[in-house]
Amino acid sequence: MTTSTGARTGPTGVKIVTGYQSLPCCAPLIESFVKGFKLSGSAYKRVMALLHQEMNNGLKHHSQGGADIKMFPTFVRSLPDGSECGEFLALDLGGTNFRVLLVRLQGHDVEIQSKTYLIPQRIMLGTGTQLFDHIADCIGKFVLEHDLQNHQLPLGFTFSFPCQQEGLAKARLSKWTKGFRCEGVVGNDICQLLQEALKRRTNCHVEIVAVVNDAVGTLMSAAHGDRNCEIGLILGTGCNACYMEGLDNVGTWKHGEEQDHHPRQVIINTEWGAFGDNGCLDFMRTEYDHELDTFSINPGKQIMEKMISGMYMGEIVRLVLVRLSHENLLFTSIDRDCNLFERGRFYTKYVSEIESDTDEFFRHTKQVLDELQVENYTTEDCKVVKYVCTLVSARAAFLAAAGLATLINRLNKQDMTIAVDGSLYRFHPRFHNLMCLKIKELVKPGLKFKLSLEKLGGITRLKRFLLKPDRLVEEKNCYFKLHEKEKR
Ligand code: GLC
Repeated sequence: MTTSTGARTGPTGVKIVTGYQSLPCCAPLIESFVKGFKLSGSAYKRVMALLHQEMNNGLKHHSQGGADIKMFPTFVRSLPDGSECGEFLALDLGGTNFRVLLVRLQGHDVEIQSKTYLIPQRIMLGTGTQLFDHIADCIGKFVLEHDLQNHQLPLGFTFSFPCQQEGLAKARLSKWTKGFRCEGVVGNDICQLLQEALKRRTNCHVEIVAVVNDAVGTLMSAAHGDRNCEIGLILGTGCNACYMEGLDNVGTWKHGEEQDHHPRQVIINTEWGAFGDNGCLDFMRTEYDHELDTFSINPGKQIMEKMISGMYMGEIVRLVLVRLSHENLLFTSIDRDCNLFERGRFYTKYVSEIESDTDEFFRHTKQVLDELQVENYTTEDCKVVKYVCTLVSARAAFLAAAGLATLINRLNKQDMTIAVDGSLYRFHPRFHNLMCLKIKELVKPGLKFKLSLEKLGGITRLKRFLLKPDRLVEEKNCYFKLHEKEKR
């Protein structure tokens, strides 16, 4: 059911705003600058067909090299079942911060202490040695602060970048994504680089025992409590998905005929953020997408991610606002030296804040505009700003939905849970509902799905990963029991 304002009753009975609300006075002109964000159902179906094809290319031995979506097989063959105890360190690296966690488990008691450290931009764009030395230094300090110098500490590493996994604790970086571009790391085993840095910079007894991508960790974590969970999705700084695939479909699986006790399946880290790098999404990219890409640190790369994820969404909105302002359709008396005109200054959290305004007072929108030093704005300006945010985030949610619908249709199971994590999904007021709406439209009739938020995010992920892989359990005698998960 749709109301005149575009509000609908969604699959869960929740009121949804579809994104295309009424426009202020200069509507037709403004519309001509933003219409590229409003895509038809058939455009999203086209995306799905292309993505499906690209996924097949990534899974085949002969075509993976040239495929944009690498569909990396992981070393995760079965999902966890719990019953653990011990003490370990966990490290979560993937955005501008990284976290070190100390997890202690005794029976059902879980104690977690953690600290977040900043990675300065000069390190994100410096050398690999600088990056891993910095991480090792922080781990060293953390160990000292917690008086753990004499403890033998296994470390689980959530490393949220594309890697060719060669073992449980062996992963070669295939390329940097998001804001990172550290020299001398691509092609190398990141566990070895960190282990060497730990040796160089600290006296602590830390041994990296496992490395996992964040999407994979999210799926593993959720699957423990929900047997229908077969897809993991991250909507944060970056965007990525993984799913459980039958080994027979994985032409790139290098480990021969499996005589082991695992089911004939493996989690595939799709790395779908790179979808579109070959130009196949150009039909739906706007001038703002092109400009964002040109000024990014990786032009031509991670095209789908650049249309969806938190690292980029705010910047797309900013570029539209700047264009409208140059056209004299917005902020007509603005000072061109204010922060709005600075690249990267419109954070994605602003989009979430602005969209949480539900009345004509525009409290959050005004706060954001004040932060950006925009002066003399009118209520009409606030309406336009909010409208632009709704369009950009609706396209992002619909594109992510098209990706998920592609996976749901591939797996073709009656009831499917998708475990979701990431700051964009957590904090955006409409992302969940927009996605549900679009997935419902795009999946095969009769297939049911549920998006489930991972409650503790990275913390749960890391714990869950360390507990399961059999080799880890055998080698390290390190057992944990985990429970946290919540349905949204
Ligand atoms: C980027 C990374 C991917 C990660 C995602 C979410 O797309 O390449 O590995 O899972 O961001 O953090």
